[in-house]
Amino acid sequence: MDLAQQQSLLGSPVAGEAIQQQVTALRAQLAEHNHRYYVLDAPTLTDAEYDALYRELVTIETQYPSLVTADSPTQRVGDEPREGLTSVRHPVRMMSLSNVFNKEELDAWAQRLLDAEMPPSDEAATPRFVAELKLDGLAVSLIYENGLLTRAATRGNGKQGEDITANVRTIGSIPLKIPVTPAADSPPVPEVLEVRGEIVMPNAAFIKLNKSQETAGLKPFANPRNAGAGSVRQLDPAITAARQLDAYLYAAHALEQSDTDPSGYNPSPINVAHTHWQTLETLAAWGFKTNAVKVPCATTDDVMAVITEWDAKRHDLPMMSDGMVIKTNHIGWQQRLGFTAKSPRWATAWKYPPEMKTTVVNEVLLSVGRTGVITPVADLVPVQLSGTTVQRASLHNYEELAKKDVRAGDTVWVHKAAEIIPEVIKVELDKRPADTLPIPEPTECPICQAETYRREGEVALRCSNHMGCAAQVQSRLEHWASKRAMDIDHVGPALIEQLLDNDLLGGPEDFYTLTAEQLLTLERMAEKSAQNVLAAIQLSKQQPLSRVLVGLGIRHVGQEVALLLSQRFPSIEQLQAASAEALAEIDGVGPKVAASVKDYLEQPATQQRLTRLAELGLTLTEPINELADKGSNALEGHSIVVTGTLPTLGRSDAEALIRLHGGKPVKSVSKKTSAVVVGENAGSKLDKAESLNIPIWSEADLLAAIKQEGPS
Ligand code: IVH
Repeated sequence: MDLAQQQSLLGSPVAGEAIQQQVTALRAQLAEHNHRYYVLDAPTLTDAEYDALYRELVTIETQYPSLVTADSPTQRVGDEPREGLTSVRHPVRMMSLSNVFNKEELDAWAQRLLDAEMPPSDEAATPRFVAELKLDGLAVSLIYENGLLTRAATRGNGKQGEDITANVRTIGSIPLKIPVTPAADSPPVPEVLEVRGEIVMPNAAFIKLNKSQETAGLKPFANPRNAGAGSVRQLDPAITAARQLDAYLYAAHALEQSDTDPSGYNPSPINVAHTHWQTLETLAAWGFKTNAVKVPCATTDDVMAVITEWDAKRHDLPMMSDGMVIKTNHIGWQQRLGFTAKSPRWATAWKYPPEMKTTVVNEVLLSVGRTGVITPVADLVPVQLSGTTVQRASLHNYEELAKKDVRAGDTVWVHKAAEIIPEVIKVELDKRPADTLPIPEPTECPICQAETYRREGEVALRCSNHMGCAAQVQSRLEHWASKRAMDIDHVGPALIEQLLDNDLLGGPEDFYTLTAEQLLTLERMAEKSAQNVLAAIQLSKQQPLSRVLVGLGIRHVGQEVALLLSQRFPSIEQLQAASAEALAEIDGVGPKVAASVKDYLEQPATQQRLTRLAELGLTLTEPINELADKGSNALEGHSIVVTGTLPTLGRSDAEALIRLHGGKPVKSVSKKTSAVVVGENAGSKLDKAESLNIPIWSEADLLAAIKQEGPS
């Protein structure tokens, strides 16, 4: 094959100047809208408009792979899964914070500060302190070189952390390149800049993630902090991307390159501002998100007022906060105060205690879920707890209920697990009324009276009437219409209940044949609402395959697994044709999930349902195949390593080509590798491939395999 043929195969002619300019303009536009959306929370484009711009860029980059740069918005989830995280050194140590638990301790901390001589230049300056929320996530260090994000690391032991760059690049609110919109009066971006702050998982993302963990039969995370930490340490950045993390930055300093320090940088940081307040302003001007609550304070009384105000108000925030951090505003003063072995003397943290209250149990209700699980729920005398009125608290399951022995009439202590989910902690036995009885485990479903049972090895009690139980049917339909599945606006539990009562609904396919006349027979349904409902149902037909898979409620298939499945097999036909082995080979899927999916897809009822949904006009494909269509599936199922210098293709071109033709470019050689494409000066990867007996291909072999001639 000659060069011209290869290039036409690659579709990679040299991009002209006009194309380059278009790419630059598209990137700038996308970065600007990304900043508006994720950082300022003030988007000016609709999602569809943003997607259209994004797709335009993807199309050009696919055609001209050599134009792809690391800061392109398309490269946020660029990397392949790695085998482990590597350890990196922090140029400047990452410390923790001391704590104060009451006003006396706060005053004593402030007094030590005031006793230290304030640098003369700062004497007249105000305010002395800045109080800001302590966000409950995990500390991160970001390094930007010439404005480009080059490294992100966890705190680790403070001296050494883990390299999480590929994962952090997927966080929308972290700029890949700064400044996004350089403000005229903001300081210039230093050549090497280190920015620090907190990565958090927003509460909404945490709740969503735990629901999908539950659906997938996986253990839920204890709180957003653990979930966030687990998410940034994923080996596959695509999983991190799906977890919707956010980041708030609070510190910045310049670094100097060093040949002698093991971190590669001189360990003394150079300030970018005179005060902490200015640092926050500068960070915002450079395009970062900063703490939503930051209050200048002159005295510790002012600080206390902020602490008291936010003790209650923090529960209204979209993320968890477990305290306030009080910082000395002036950086000169900070430097004079310095550090103890573990923490700065110039800052301290006020930790809020978790809130617990007592209330009375009216009764124990039973709720029957989508999969038939019967959950006991305590109906409570309403109580104000961590910012909301709590009236229901889950008792999880009958084992838990028996252990806690909660009875109607009991006085109980309640709290919010992970400060989000209301939970009964224990019963105040002294206050138990005389005539209470323990709550027995039901032998019948409270809704349909079918027998209850347990699956082997599970604690959950279930209703055995999978197809016929009204509660199960209702919650499966609610699940289909829900935000995380088909996201059908205007179709909530109340409407679904009405539709079921009127025999207008049986399975999800029935949504798509509803008519305005039928809807108008329902109580309180007006013409306009009926039109809204029908329009929303129509719109949901365009949802991609992954959402349909979530909606179907396949055991072990939550949002993440659904995405993994449909990205690998982007149409329902491909997915149905895939063997259980092929499904299990997808990273993050595994044999148990694969068996469940295969079993589900093979059932005649499923096949009928899918055929019907297709007839009704549902998409049942995943949009990535817009790209794959331009390629082929010649390399489907092949993990291919590219190593050394190839005669004509650059490494990333070769990898893009592999991806375009359905293969998976991987970085390291293992038993699972299908082939290693070897160029000049290949090193240890070639040795490893030989020792594992993995086929060694030349560039020509790769191109031939794509043409489906098979390697020579
Ligand atoms: S300033 C030398 N400000 O709390 C450390 N830390 O124990 C200076 N944290 O994991 C930290 N919110 O990442 C600071 N507004 C905030 C914070 C904050 C959360 C975390 C920090 C670290 C821990 C310190």
